[in-house]
Amino acid sequence: MQPLKVAILGSGKGSNCQSIIDAIKAGTLNARIVCVISDVENALILDRAKKNNIPAEYLSAAPFKTKLDGEAERNYLAVLRKYGAEIIVLAGFMRIIKKNLLQAFAGRILNIHPALLPAFPGVESWKQAMDYGAKVAGCTVHIVDEGTDTGPILVQKAVPILENDTAEILHARIQAEEHKAYPEALRFFSENRISMEGRRVKIKMD
Ligand code: GAR
Repeated sequence: MQPLKVAILGSGKGSNCQSIIDAIKAGTLNARIVCVISDVENALILDRAKKNNIPAEYLSAAPFKTKLDGEAERNYLAVLRKYGAEIIVLAGFMRIIKKNLLQAFAGRILNIHPALLPAFPGVESWKQAMDYGAKVAGCTVHIVDEGTDTGPILVQKAVPILENDTAEILHARIQAEEHKAYPEALRFFSENRISMEGRRVKIKMD
């Protein structure tokens, strides 16, 4: 099978991007990262891409603060098409994806969220879980739809919330699981094992 052509969008340090790079290098994921795009000019995710000889582009999403829309959305679409992306991976991309991009990549935009959805959507979800007094936290890889953190769930991994946890310690524990969850979810796509029943995602086993 041809490697899955993946575009990664991120706004931050890019540890999830790194986990995907590592899985491809280790031969456990049949994919090629065709480009990494960031809406933050000096984001570490762009440095990680360049170090690994992956095309890396900063693309402004101004004037919007929390969404990708209008001319910025058109610019992103043009770059994604230029690199022949088949699937978009949001890896800490802190913007809402709007209609045109969703339609252009229907069912082929994935996001990772640092909570066990549908609990704790939105920002700093690990803090939300801790402040709420939950005993279990985790991460979710899901297909992106029009809502915020509402799309069909592909992979979830749980971690305990311990009494002495700080927000940073808990986030690090969740991120260690994110780094397994994203390559796993992408593997299902690259091996064509995914089907849908309503909003339930079914993964064909070997
Ligand atoms: C990840 O923990 C991801 O779950 C979170 O941003 C972090 C990015 O880390 N995403 C969200 O909160 C989206 N709502 P990274 O840049 O090291 O991959």
